[in-house]
Amino acid sequence: MRKKIVAGNWKMNCTLPEGKKLASEIIHMVQDEVNNDTDVILIPPFIHLTGIQNLICSSKNIFLGAQNCHQNQNGAFTGEISAGMLVSCGATHVILGHSERREYFGETDELLAEKVSFALENQLIPIFCCGEKLEVREAGKHEDLVSMQVEKALFGLSEDQISKVVIAYEPVWAIGTGKTASAEQAQEMHAFIRKQIAAKYSQETADSISILYGGSVKPENAKEIFSQSDVDGGLIGGASLKSRDFTNIVKSFD
Ligand code: PGA
Repeated sequence: MRKKIVAGNWKMNCTLPEGKKLASEIIHMVQDEVNNDTDVILIPPFIHLTGIQNLICSSKNIFLGAQNCHQNQNGAFTGEISAGMLVSCGATHVILGHSERREYFGETDELLAEKVSFALENQLIPIFCCGEKLEVREAGKHEDLVSMQVEKALFGLSEDQISKVVIAYEPVWAIGTGKTASAEQAQEMHAFIRKQIAAKYSQETADSISILYGGSVKPENAKEIFSQSDVDGGLIGGASLKSRDFTNIVKSFD
């Protein structure tokens, strides 16, 4: 059985007190109300990690993630954060290749290949994001593009390494736009990615990797999207900033 995962990417939102309040509301609601064993990952800005880790403590099924990391362990890289530093703050996961990092910070698949492998070396689970822009989908090239992103960033990994990666399919046109991919569009792409992994590695490994959908997931549409056989959960942006909405998204697996 693949792991079901709901991860909340807070992006550049919340002061520390706001973030602690949000995290503690989510932790309590999840503990009190959720009747499934979905892994919940809180992904705040870097500087909130320690404060939020103290709130999570050993809460069952609740984990801490970061939104990015550098591809070197340490050194003269002013303003950057390494995988080892994240682990030392209690992080278990790291988002790599979010479309906002690709678009605004010029992150390429080659760079992401380095980051993914470095994160894994540090026992950090990468949540690797892929997904096409609207014009690519309209040109019917979305599968080619996603397949290239996956191949370039992940296919240098060994089978053992890739089996530890979480993949998030996030069509760029659905992120923060209120426009969600239909359940069928999500299922189609997730099955396509899984097939590509099976062809490169093995069916067993492909079947073991959690593939999350991201892009305007809300309590109202989560159940339908998550019910697709190749959709193993979600990477949630906007709705992860509202404790009630985020918890209800986790509850859609009940
Ligand atoms: P959204 O963001 O849920 O606000 O669309 C998703 C993401 O960027 O991961």
